[in-house]
Amino acid sequence: MRIAMIGTGYVGLVSGVCFSEFGFDVTCVDIDTDKIARLNQGEVPIYEPGLDTLIERNLEAGRLAFTTDFDTAVKKADVVFIAVGTPSRRGDGEADLTYVYAAARQIAAAMTPETVVVIKSTVVVGTCRKVAEIIREERPGVPFSIASNPEFLREGSAIEDFMRPDRVVVGAEDELGEAAMRKLYRPLYLRETPILVSTLENAELTKYAANAFLALKITFINEVADLCEKVGADVQKVASGIGLDKRIGGKFLHAGPGFGGSCFPKDTTALAATGQRHGAPLRLVETTIAVNETRKRDMADRVLAALGPDPKGKRVGILGIAFKPNTDDVRDAPSLVIVPALQEAGVEVVAHDPEAREQAEPLLPGLVWCDNPYDVADGVDALAIITEWNVYRGLSLADIAGRMRGRDVIDMRNIWQAADVHEAGLTYRGIGKRAGL
Ligand code: UDX
Repeated sequence: MRIAMIGTGYVGLVSGVCFSEFGFDVTCVDIDTDKIARLNQGEVPIYEPGLDTLIERNLEAGRLAFTTDFDTAVKKADVVFIAVGTPSRRGDGEADLTYVYAAARQIAAAMTPETVVVIKSTVVVGTCRKVAEIIREERPGVPFSIASNPEFLREGSAIEDFMRPDRVVVGAEDELGEAAMRKLYRPLYLRETPILVSTLENAELTKYAANAFLALKITFINEVADLCEKVGADVQKVASGIGLDKRIGGKFLHAGPGFGGSCFPKDTTALAATGQRHGAPLRLVETTIAVNETRKRDMADRVLAALGPDPKGKRVGILGIAFKPNTDDVRDAPSLVIVPALQEAGVEVVAHDPEAREQAEPLLPGLVWCDNPYDVADGVDALAIITEWNVYRGLSLADIAGRMRGRDVIDMRNIWQAADVHEAGLTYRGIGKRAGL
C-alpha cells in the first residue's frame, strides 16, 4: 500500500509518519519548500514527543519521504489522504474548506484509476460527498473511492494515540474504500481496536460530536469549580466522586483556566454554526463556547485581584504559556487572553515555558521571557501557573518564595498542594477550592 499524505501540519505529519512506522510506503506532501527541506534532513517543525525518532527511523528505512511534488506522489499512491488545514472562517465560524477543495481538484487531476481519497482534515458534515463530486467532475468516468477517517490525536501524546487508539472511525461506502481502510489499520487488529465503518456523514459528525462533548465536559467541571469556591467544596474531590461512575468517567474533569488548542475552540464553533445552518441549534455547545471565553478573562481578573486595587506597575510571573503541556502550540491558549489583560492593566509580565517561546513570542509583545522557571519568581508580586508542565510540579517552593516580592500564588491547574505553598510562607489560590485551602 502506498500512501500520499497531503499536508504536513500536525495531523498530516503525525499520521503519515505513524503509517510509515506500520510499514507502509508514505510520501508526505506540502507546498512549503523550506519545511519539506527541513523534514528531509530529519528536522521536525513541531514539538511532539517521539516524533523525531520515528521520522529518522523511517526516513532511513526508505519508507518515508517528504516532497513538494504533489502530482508524482498522488500518481504513485493507492491511498491519498487530505490532511490540510480547515481554519475557522471569519464572521460565521464555519470551517473554511478552501484548502480541502483545492487539494481535491489537484488530486483528481493527478490520480490513477481506483485511487482511494481519504479526508482526514476535520470537515463539516457533507464535505466528503462534495469532495467526491468535485473529483467526479474533474475526472468523469475514472473509478475512485472516497472515505472519511477523522483523527482523535491529542497534541503531546499524538503518537501513542495513533498507535493505541480507543477506536478508529471510518466513513466508506464501497468495497474499494472499505477494504483499503481496513488494510491500513490492520496493524491495530492485534490490539483488538474497534474499527467502526459507517457512512461518510456518520464519520464526519462523530468527530465533531466527540470534541464538542469533551469541551462541554471540561466546561461543566469548570463551572462546578466556581461553585465549589463559593460553598467551600473541593472540585478535585467532586470530580473524583463523579468520575468513578463509569457512565461519567474520570477523564477530562480537570478544572482549569478554560480549554484552548487548535481543535476544541475551532470545532465547537464550527459545530454550533452547522447546527444553526440546519435549524438544529446545539445550545449546550453554544453555551460551552461562551462560558469558556469568559473564563479566560476571569482568570486574568483573579490575578489582578491578588495585586490589590492598583495593579499598575506591579510585576507578575507566569509559569506555562502553551495551551497544555508537552506541546509548543499556543493556538487559542488561555495565556493569550490572560497575559494581554494583565498588560492592559499596567502589569509587567514575565514568563517561562519549556517549549512555546518561539511560537508565542510574536503573539505576546512586551512579555519578558525567562529561560529558567525560578527566574520567573524574581521580584514578582504574584505568581500564576497557567500550564501544568511536569517540570513545575517539583519546583522548590522555598526557593520561589525567597525570590518573590509579594506572596500570592494563583495555581490555575491545581498542581501544587496548598499546604506546601503555605509552608513556604506564600498564600495559595487554586481552582475550585476556597481561597487559602
Ligand atoms: C483534542 C482532542 O482530545 C483530540 O481527540 C482531538 O482530535 C484534537 O483536540 P488537543 O487539542 O491536543 O486534543 O488537547 P486536549 O488534551 O484534548 O486538551 C484540550 C484543552 O482542554 C487544553 O487546553 C487542556 O488544557 C484542556 N483540558 C483538558 C482541561 O482544561 N481539562 C481537562 O480535563 C482536559
